Parts: sequence; C-alpha cells; structure tokens
Amino acid sequence: MSYYLGIDVGTSGTKTLVMNSAGKILAEATKKYRLHSPKALWTEQNPDDWWTATVATVRAVMKKARLKAADVKAIGLSGQMHGSVFLDKESQIIRPALLWNDQRTADECDEIEARAGGRQKLIQMVANPALTGFTAPKILWLRNKEPANFDRLKKVLLPKDDVRRRMTGEFATDVSDASGMLLLDVAKRTWSKKLLSALELDESLLAKCYESEEITGNLTKEAAAELGLSPRCVVVGGAGDCAANAVGTGVVKSGILSTSIGTSGIMFVHSDKMQLDPLGRLHTFCHAVHGQWHMMGVSLTGGGALQWFTEKVCRELFATQKKRSFGTLTKEAGAVPTGSEGLFFLPYLAGERTPHADSRARGCFIGLTLKHERGHLARSVMEGVGYAMRDSLEIIKSLKVPVAEIRASGGGSKSQLWRQIQADVFGQDVVTINAEQGPAYGVALLAAVGAGEFDSIEQACEATIFPVKTTPLDTAASKFYDRGFPLYQQLYQSLKKDFAAIAGLEG
Ligand code: XUL
Repeated sequence: MSYYLGIDVGTSGTKTLVMNSAGKILAEATKKYRLHSPKALWTEQNPDDWWTATVATVRAVMKKARLKAADVKAIGLSGQMHGSVFLDKESQIIRPALLWNDQRTADECDEIEARAGGRQKLIQMVANPALTGFTAPKILWLRNKEPANFDRLKKVLLPKDDVRRRMTGEFATDVSDASGMLLLDVAKRTWSKKLLSALELDESLLAKCYESEEITGNLTKEAAAELGLSPRCVVVGGAGDCAANAVGTGVVKSGILSTSIGTSGIMFVHSDKMQLDPLGRLHTFCHAVHGQWHMMGVSLTGGGALQWFTEKVCRELFATQKKRSFGTLTKEAGAVPTGSEGLFFLPYLAGERTPHADSRARGCFIGLTLKHERGHLARSVMEGVGYAMRDSLEIIKSLKVPVAEIRASGGGSKSQLWRQIQADVFGQDVVTINAEQGPAYGVALLAAVGAGEFDSIEQACEATIFPVKTTPLDTAASKFYDRGFPLYQQLYQSLKKDFAAIAGLEG
C-alpha cells in the first residue's frame, strides 16, 4: 500500500493529513500560527512559521498513522493564495510576507491598470482586474515603498511554494495558484510576457509553472531528514487552497458549485472552457484539473467574521469557554427568528473583494434596537456572510453558469444552523460530502494522481468523494431572505461614500 500527504498552508494554521491509496484518511494534524497586522488593513505572516508548522504536522501524522519514512510516495501542497514571499539571491526572506487579505496596495492596483492600458486590456491579458489582495500589486508596492528591499529581490513565491522550496530546493508553482498572482496568461496557462513587460518586471522573478498533478521535484536529503520522510518522495504541483478545496470536495465537473466558509467565504464553480466576467467581479483562474478553469467570488471575511465576533466582541465568553463559545453563540443565534428581527450585518471587516473590490468598505451592524441581544448579533453575522456570498452566486447565475448542486464545505459549514442559513439565503438545497478536509484532501488526491495511483483527477474524485447529507431549503425562510437581499445590497451602496470618508479620516 502507498501513502500520500496533503498539506494545506492556511491563514490560521497548517493542516496535514495522510491517506492511503484508496483515499482513506489515516491521520490529521494542525498547527496554528499568528497573523500580524502592523497597521490597520495590513496582514503579514512569517514564512518560517509555515515551515515549522509543516515539519511538526508531517511528523505528527506519520507518528499517529505509524508509518515508516519510505511509505509516503508523494506530497501535495495547498495554501492560502496570493501571498508574497520575497527572497534575495541567497534565498533569504527579505521581509514578512504580505497576505491575500492585505489591503495596502490600492495605488499599485491603479498603476497596474494604467501600465496595462486600462482595466479591459488588463482583463484580456490575465483574465482578471487588479485587486489589492493579488500578488503583482504587492511586488510593485515593494518597488515603490521599500526600494532597498526591492533591490535585493530575486524571487517571489506563493506561500505553499516557499514550503516546496524548503522541501525540494526548486522554485516551482502550479497554474491554479499562479493565476492569483495577476501575472499569468490564464487562457494559455503560462506567464504573461505582455504584462510582465508593461510592469517592467523580469520573468526570472517567478517560479516555473506546472499543472497541479505534475511532479515538481524530490525531497532533498536535508528536508527528508527534517520531515522524517524519504528523499525518494516526490512533491506534485498542488493547488491554491480554493482549487484544492474544489478537488477535495469533488468539484471537478460542470454543474457543481462549492461554498467554503473558512477565514474567507468562497463561491467556486468549475468551467470546461475559459469564461470571463466582463466586469471583473468574479475571478477566472486555471483549475487544478488539467485544461480546465474555474470562476469564483471571494468574500474576504467569511468565517473570520464569526471568529472576530466571538473572540473580540464576546471576549469574556471566549475567555471562559474557548472553542465551546462557538457552540454557545450558535445556540443563541438559532433561537432568534430568521432575519435577526431587523438587524443586518455587512461583513466587510477587511474591506471587500467580490463584488465591490473596495478596500475601504467596513463592517457594520445596521438596524440595532433595544430588543437585540447577543444571539441576534451572532445570527446577523451568519446571515450577513450568507448575503455576501449570495452576491457572488447571483453573478455566477447571471453569466449562465449552471448550478445544479451546491456543496457546502469549510469550518462554517460544520454548523447545522449556518448550513441552513446558506440553503435559505442561496435559495437552493445544500449538500455536504463524506470528505470534510477540503484543501488538504484535494492535494493528497493530486499527489496520488501524480504518482500514478489514479488515471485522472476526475477518476480520483469519483472513487473517493460522494454527497452524504442534504440540508433542504426552508421555503418560508428563503422567501424572507429574497426580500432581505436587495436591502442588504442597497446598504453598501448607501454607505459607500461614507466608507471612503471614514478611510480619509483615518489618513
Ligand atoms: C482566494 C483568497 C482566499 C485565500 C485564503 O482568492 O484570497 O481564499 O486563498 O485562503
């Protein structure tokens, strides 16, 4: 029997699992690390923390599953997308990595559009507009704001690809994650020479680009020893966490949409051909499936909003109950009627991507009265995230992308209440599947495909992933949310100018 590791370098921690050739998970381990916010709306992490967590979790799963070093044939890597690991000529980390939800690059986004000859031309080149979270604006930010650091710059890697570098010594990435750098010709699945030249960036800054199941190298002797694995173990391309989650939930053919509530909130659809949102609200990226693409809408704060509410607003509850505090709040929220008795929540705590692309948007509770209690606030947070994700769903549907089945995944979907809110806000039943590990499972499957265990990614998913539970739509609640949704949308439009003014006040 052969074994495969799936490693997801996430925002709150790194999760590793080991599975056998039949796709059965034998052990999992997670190690958390810190997110640093040196200024409002800046987010950074230390790439050394990702490596330390990778080593610790790989060692933990090997021990739990009682495997020997030589048992593991291949590794798949997944990770938070868009982050920038800046390396110098000795491959030393130049500064902490800027993350996907960092909002400091608004000026650089304008610069990219101008250099590309306008927004439409940019979308033609790389399938997407310039958004503050993407990687290219981060590189320009380094050039504009930290020129001494930029002078030392030799390579820019995505988070999971820095882990790969430490494993294999190779500078490599995969097409799905590379799409989020805003430097990939997404249609051709190669770096965009046109945009690189317009931005005066050298292609040598970037890693070599592979398809997700392709082998990118073997473990070095040193890395193998540190990880407790064999140097014969290979590392496949892997995928950005969204495409990896799609593989791990079986979203590898048309008609299935996956929702994922992790730190962010993602609506992801498979696409057999490359399709663009002409207004650039949805992202069009390469899928982890060879020769296929996907579209997705990203709410920057999904599960992160409930985490914020629990840990920062309900601090005493969190201090006494820790992990159980989610359960307590969900219970209180479940006792509150649909619509939180007139309370709305805009979840723009870190600005927003889809559909507003507005780094100045802010989170708000609107409609508070003396009647409202903690449970109302918790419920309206869940409903607000649901509405934000419906914004993406409406765009997907308006582009005539078929959505026959909605699969819910991610931490947020483990809550029965939040699944019900999703079904009712989306106006469609929501199913959950047998595999709950999302991205880490997806890349373990990619590793197995790369090692020849399955003929294709589609076959790997068919053999291992199936729906187990349906959360049916509640018609009355759904009708209510259909009336609430236009109001939710209107609130952002009414407040947009005020958000900009608030940002101006903060300087
Ligand atoms: C996707 C995105 C986030 C991160 C965090 O575009 O920014 O989902 O990948 O996990």
